[in-house]
Amino acid sequence: MHEIIFHSMASRGLDQEGLLEIVATARKNNAEKDVTGCMLYYKGEFLAIHEGKKEVLLHMHDKIARDVRHDNFTTLYIKPISERTFASFSMAFLCLDPGCTRQDLISKEQFAELLNTMRNKSTAKQLFILISENIIDSCKRHLTP
Ligand SMILES: Cc1cc2nc3c(=O)[nH]c(=O)nc-3n(C[C@H](O)[C@H](O)[C@H](O)COP(=O)(O)O)c2cc1C
Repeated sequence: MHEIIFHSMASRGLDQEGLLEIVATARKNNAEKDVTGCMLYYKGEFLAIHEGKKEVLLHMHDKIARDVRHDNFTTLYIKPISERTFASFSMAFLCLDPGCTRQDLISKEQFAELLNTMRNKSTAKQLFILISENIIDSCKRHLTP
């Protein structure tokens, strides 16, 4: 079992509907491939972490990297893990953009809980927490008058 993190920037013109389409495809495919994970989106920035079999993850990332709906795709980390953290999520997704609220997306509180379950786990998870908190902070700064 491995985990892998990527960061990317949405292509211009990707709207909320497009975003939700990506999430729906991700959930369907990940469930079929026994991949679990979590993704954060804010103002064009994607941060995602996936867990699964190494070959499956590498093949999936190869496909995701070529997706024209985003660019500046960067794989940040890939490492073996002994157990899953997101066992019950094919793709937990938090969108911090204003107005991006849907029942099938997780809330900020649920995301914070997920981040907590990642603490004291692998280096990749620490990295995911660090970048997520950075993104969440910039969101808070933006919303504070
Ligand atoms: C930011 C982003 C994240 C994505 N995450 C996933 C994912 O977790 N799993 C997945 O299968 N596809 C994901 N995709 C979609 C893939 O790039 C690709 O469109 C999809 O796997 C093709 O599925 P299909 O072969 O069933 O048509 C993502 C795309 C983007 C832009």
